[in-house]
Amino acid sequence: MPGAGPARADIMLIGEAPGAREDESGLPFVGPSGRFLDELLAGIGLSRDTVYIANVVKCRPPANRDPEPAEIEACEDYLDRQIAIVDPRVIVTLGRFSMARWFPGEAISRVHGKPKHAAGRTVVPMYHPAAALHRGDLRPVIQADFATLPALIAAAGTTEAAPPTSNTEQLT
Ligand code: URA
Repeated sequence: MPGAGPARADIMLIGEAPGAREDESGLPFVGPSGRFLDELLAGIGLSRDTVYIANVVKCRPPANRDPEPAEIEACEDYLDRQIAIVDPRVIVTLGRFSMARWFPGEAISRVHGKPKHAAGRTVVPMYHPAAALHRGDLRPVIQADFATLPALIAAAGTTEAAPPTSNTEQLT
């Protein structure tokens, strides 16, 4: 389950790995954490069809265990190419596995919501939406971090208008 969204997008969200429902449907974030993600996006006036959603690991880890380093490495080139093609101005990492790529050794509790610039993009680490389903106190924290996105997106500028065909093409 590689991901879904427009072939060019200003924002790319990168989660961890597909779960059972994503594996069945072939779409990212379709379970309970996906519903919360849709809510977070709606809260800042975005719908999921305007953003690209990917995962660090493209296959479902058995029994939803954490992805292993070898699995992350096996999918790394794939994610690199997705980022190169989608060419987002802002990357939002959801959870510690996608965060680790840009913030190695950091704790999410310390850096969530704090953007950094890397290779011409703004990268913002955020808690995984599933974390708020387990810990209600994280809900307002993630909402507050999402609320910073519109300004970051505006500051990062927008992608040069792509021809309509490639704009509407779905890259899955
Ligand atoms: N959690 C993720 O990290 N990714 C998905 O696609 C679904 C749930």
